[in-house]
Order: sequence, then structure tokens, then C-alpha cells
Amino acid sequence: MQDKQRQILVSNALPYANGPLHIGHLVGYIQADIWVRFQKMLGNECHYVCADDTHGTPIMLRAQKEGITPEALIEAMSREHQADFTDFAVAFDNYHSTHSPENQELANTIYEALDNAGHINKRTIKQAYDPEKKMFLPDRFIRGECPKCGAADQYGDNCEVCGATYSPTDLKNPVSAVSGATPIEKESEHYFFKLGDFEKLLHEWTRAGHLQAEVTNKLDEWFEAGLQEWDISRDAPYFGFEIPNAPGKFFYVWLDAPMGYLASFKNLCDKTNLNFDDWCKAGSDKEMIHFIGKDIIYFHALFWPAVLEGSGFRTPSAVYANGFLTVDGQKMSKSRGTFIKARTYLNHLNPEYLRYYFSAKLGSGIDDIDLNLEDFSARVNSDLVGKVVNIASRCAGFIKKRFDGQLSETVQDPELYAALVAANESIKTAYDNREYSRAMREIMTLADKVNQYIDDHKPWVIAKEDNSDDKLQAVCSMGINCFRLLMLYLKPVLPVMAKKTEAFLNIEAMQWHDADTALTNHKINKFKPLMTRIEKESIEKMIEDSKVDLEATPNETVVTGPLADDPIADEISFEDFMKVDLRIAKIVKAGHVEGADKLLQLTLDIGGETRNVFAGIKSAYAPEELEGKLTVMVANLAPRKMRFGLSEGMVLAAGPGGKDLFVLHPDNGAEPGMKVK
Ligand code: 2FM
Ligand code: ZN
Repeated sequence: MQDKQRQILVSNALPYANGPLHIGHLVGYIQADIWVRFQKMLGNECHYVCADDTHGTPIMLRAQKEGITPEALIEAMSREHQADFTDFAVAFDNYHSTHSPENQELANTIYEALDNAGHINKRTIKQAYDPEKKMFLPDRFIRGECPKCGAADQYGDNCEVCGATYSPTDLKNPVSAVSGATPIEKESEHYFFKLGDFEKLLHEWTRAGHLQAEVTNKLDEWFEAGLQEWDISRDAPYFGFEIPNAPGKFFYVWLDAPMGYLASFKNLCDKTNLNFDDWCKAGSDKEMIHFIGKDIIYFHALFWPAVLEGSGFRTPSAVYANGFLTVDGQKMSKSRGTFIKARTYLNHLNPEYLRYYFSAKLGSGIDDIDLNLEDFSARVNSDLVGKVVNIASRCAGFIKKRFDGQLSETVQDPELYAALVAANESIKTAYDNREYSRAMREIMTLADKVNQYIDDHKPWVIAKEDNSDDKLQAVCSMGINCFRLLMLYLKPVLPVMAKKTEAFLNIEAMQWHDADTALTNHKINKFKPLMTRIEKESIEKMIEDSKVDLEATPNETVVTGPLADDPIADEISFEDFMKVDLRIAKIVKAGHVEGADKLLQLTLDIGGETRNVFAGIKSAYAPEELEGKLTVMVANLAPRKMRFGLSEGMVLAAGPGGKDLFVLHPDNGAEPGMKVK
């Protein structure tokens, strides 16, 4: 019997519009996309929405830096994000923006409802202010010395060297990262959402099955600490929505960001015949499910349900958090080339490899998952190419050549086939519960059985026997039918390969209930390769390109304080160290690099040979200060391709960064080309 049709609104966390997507982001998007595709295959009504998250200080400042309007910046970012999603087969039913009329209207309506019900407080607070730039500074835009360990150039809220957390007023010698000015303290009136008004509701809601168990446990710590009022306003200049009847005050980006889920859905409703109020107002009988990363649980499991409840909207049916991605067991790292942008991946590898690999790793919890690059290619090659596609390629040729594409009238091994059909129930449950790794394991166990069947029956031997046509057709048709079921089960994960399969099998788009029937007495098309193996070189090139990305990005800090960007690398031997050939070099020419904020182009004389080197030292030196001076360079570094040209070596620099970056060598009689010991 068919279950009652579910009606589900699904969202993913909105990507922030100040940067490209990387493969870590994709874990959550791919997870939700698979879930939505699965629900749709079941015949459920499911609307999958997303949008770019566009407001806030970082976007305002970045647009200023690039000399464009924030609107132009967010427009370009949105196009980039959407192209990445499309190419990874993440198929939203609607993609919108938080900087949209729908979102502005929702933000105003919700805020006014909260205010009218007495959930908004106003009070004056003191904050760091940049007197040159005339703006209040978010913590991340104040840099200074760590009050605990003294490390230079640390953020206003935490130290990347010793891990201390503190308030920006504790920083020693603070400077504004925007202008370099010393921040002053300034008062201003802020608007607060009284989260504590919802303590009882939230206490119940967080225990009512809407959250994963480990998330509920984590929230306990926050309840114990007491629910603080939430500062929801920011002063001009700010890129966002101005608060009604509060000139110069804007909604904090995190207030209107989750409203973007509803705004995107509203935009979809206006284009279709869906009724927004039926889905989103208090009392709705539909489901609303948010997929998020575990770093933003606080916003989604406390603020968001309270804001919705306080303004007459429905609360979420579920919030599902996913863990972070590590690569080869470590945090993604730009210098190791494992901080891989979605686009860099796409330039080298088939997106469905990654969709499958994530699925093979994903459970329903918030544990981090690891992309082990060796295991990645071994697993994809063995499971998808070696097991699944192999079944079709071993059977399809005979059916096409010997039987004009015609499948036999019955399935040859009803027992095996029934086992594959019966598995649909537990695979279905696994998908529904987001236990994808379990689903993948079950599917691959079935694929093993089918390959065993083919090995046992050996169609390539039957084909050579006399009067064996019926047998050959029956065995190969059985193989094709099993392949069809496996691809049906894999369809939420591999939608592109499933589509090619549908064309090959000459069938309509597969739905979950199609698992009940077999393809008999049916004509199939010519088999074309459905997926090729992962080549090691493609992975190597992707890593190499990811490394180049770091060097070529103008805003990246090339030399920073110790441990600022990455943990200390693996130990090297003295022999390794001795391989580095350090030479005195004379800077014969220095110039600016068009389009690069941090780089200077240097021509270095190392004793009769010149080298072209791009160095991230623009913050510390004007080109004319450098010409004619001596420096030290790594002379035997392999040349590296950068966006601006080939860099043939590296100049050694020391210092905390910014203006304090030292590359010059004392002119104590050293000559270009001399070895540095
Ligand atoms: O963490 C982020 O990248 C945010 N842009 C996520 C926002 S999710 C939702 F609230 F909009
Ligand atoms: Zn510190």
C-alpha cells in the first residue's frame, strides 16, 4: 500500500556571497539534494529552496575594495554559486537571494510582529569604532597582539596561535583591519531580540524530536549558560535592510539570512500555484526541514524557532546538521592543495564520483567525514566502475548484437531477482533516515551478488555454445534487469548516470515503485560507457591547481605569523633541509602586478642569471625602495605557474605581516649568487 504523500519544504544553509564554494560546503548540499531526489522518487511533494546570503560588513567592504556596488558583487557570486550547484547536480527548485523584495518584506513583517509582542529591547552599548573609516568594527576586523601569548596580528575575538578567546577591547595595540587606524570606543543604540522570552518553548522544542540527539545534548550547555538577548541591529554604513522606523540602523545579516529560506519559497509560490501561508504560517500541516552545517546550530535551533514562533510563523519540523570535511585526515589546507574549490574539482573530475564517495561516508550524525584521496579513487573505481557499470557492460553487447536489443520474457533467476527487489525496503529506510553509508553498503552487496551470478553463468562461454540463444538471452536479460534495479537504488546519488541508464534501457524516468516490476520483453538501446575510472593524474592535477590558487589569489597572506594559517608541517630531515639552496640575490627590478593586492614582481640577479619572482610583500615595500638592494631567495624551487606568470623561486621574508615584513639582506659585501649558510 502506498504511504500517504508527504509535503516537504527543504532548504540548505545559504552560501555566503563573498566567496566561492569549496568541497567542504558540498557535503551538506549533496546530502540534502540526495534526500530531496529520494523523496521525489517516492512520489512525495518536495520543494527544495536555497538563496545567496548577501548582507553584512564583509560584502560591503569587499565590494568597495573591488570598486563595484555590493549589488554587482552579489549578482556575480550568485551566478558562480548556481553554476557550481548545477554542475554538481544539486537541483534546487528555486534559487533566490536574501537581498530581494520578498526577504525585505518578510524581515519587516517578522520584526514588527516581534516588536509589537514586546520581544525587542533597545539599549546603548559601547563598541570599537574606526574613526578614519567612520564605521563600527565587527570583531573580525580588529587586529592586534594576543593578550595571552602576545602573538601579533590576531583577530579581535580569538588567537589563532594559542587558541585564546577574548573581547576586542583586550587586544594589545589594536588596529582596524579596514584602515589601519587605532579603534576608539563609541556608544550607539542597538536592538535586541529577547531570546529568553522563549526559554520554555525552546526547552521543549529542542527535545521534541526535531533535532539529532547529539545536537540536543550540545544545546544543553547553552541552556545552562542562560539564553542571552541577541543583538540584531548594526549601524550604518552596512549592506543590508534598514530597520523600519529606525533610520541608520540595519538588520544584522544573521537575522535576515534564515528568512531567506522563506523568501526563496515565497518567490517560488509566486511563480507557481503554491500557497505560501499554507506552508509557512503557524498551524501549517506541512513539513519544513533545514539542512545545515554543525557550526551554525545555535542560529537554527534557538534563534530561528524563537523568531518564527514569536511572529506567527510555523517552526521547523527538523534541523539536520552535518559534520565538516577533512581531506586525508586533516583540515583542508591551502598550502597542501587540499582546500579544493568546487570549480577546481569540476575542472578535473566527474562530480558523481564525489557524490558517491560522500554517500559512502555519510551517516545521520554530525561526525566529520574524511575524503581520503587514495580511498576515494579505489572505492569509486571498484564500486561504481568495477561492480555496477561492469554488470551492464558484460551483458549489453550480447543483447544488442544477438537479439537486436530484445530482453527475454522472464527473469532467469527469480530468487536472486526477488532478493534485489526486497532490498528496496531497507534501502528506502536508510535513505529516509539519512543513513546513506548503510544504503551504499547494501547496494554494493547486491552488486557483488549479481557479479557472482554472471561469473557463475559466464555469458561469454554460453555465446560460443551451439543452440544456446535462449540461455544467453535469459542470462544477459537477468543481468540487465539487476543492473536496472541497482541504478534505480543509486539514482538519488547518481542522477546523471541514472539518466544515461534510462536512455540506454529505453525507459521512463525511474521512480521508486518501479522496483516492483521487471523489464521483460522490452527493447533496449546501444550501451555507451556510463562512467570511466578515476585517473590518479586527475587528482594530482586538481591538487596542483588548488595550490596555484593560493599563490595567485591577491588577497591571500603569503607570509604570516607562525601557525596563523596552517599547523606546522611534518618534520623534515637535515638532508631535506640541505636540499634548499639559498642564494643572495640582487633586486634589479621591482614593479606592481596588475590585479594583485599583495604581490610585487621582482627581477632577481643571482650572479649572471636572472629570475622572475612574484613576492607577497607589497604591504611592506614600495618597488622603488627595493631596486638595487640584496635579498635572500630559494634558488632551486621548481618554477610555479601563477595567474600573473611564472614564478621562478621564492624570496624569504620574516615578520608578522602588513608593514612589518622584512626581505632585505644587509649589504655587507655579499655578492649576488653567493650561497647563504
Ligand atoms: O554560515 C554561512 O555560511 C551562512 N551564510 C549560512 C546562512 S544559513 C541561513 F541562515 F541563511
Ligand atoms: Zn595567543
